[in-house]
Amino acid sequence: MARNPFIDAEAPAPPKSKYTVTIANTGQVLEVDPENLAGKRYDGQEGSLLRTLLQAGIDLDHACGGVLACSTCHIYVEQGLDSAPEPIDEEEDMLDLAPALRDSSRLACQCVPDGSVNVVIEMPTWKRNEVSEDH
Ligand code: FES
Repeated sequence: MARNPFIDAEAPAPPKSKYTVTIANTGQVLEVDPENLAGKRYDGQEGSLLRTLLQAGIDLDHACGGVLACSTCHIYVEQGLDSAPEPIDEEEDMLDLAPALRDSSRLACQCVPDGSVNVVIEMPTWKRNEVSEDH
């Protein structure tokens, strides 16, 4: 299982079931299929919401490359949050640096839903320009 080279914590297990990620700002619905996750070279934890966005061509800011060393990948997980493991202390510390926190705030590179329910995310308002297809 992948490990963050900067954090001494086990990576969360990738999703086991197909599920969807809806981006509330735009209404885009992204399909996540565990069969298509392995071996993909994207930043963030395997199966993370950051990787789902990047695979879909949505270039969410992720200044540290998805290794839990910034807070630029901050998003809100408005539905399905319980399907991802709780953030580790290091993620909580980084989130404290992000503006406009909500109870649903997560770092997209670290948040890995298990696929048991569909997920709805929302980008913080200052990220709205990033929620577009990358082509
Ligand atoms: S990209 Fe830096 S913490 Fe997620």
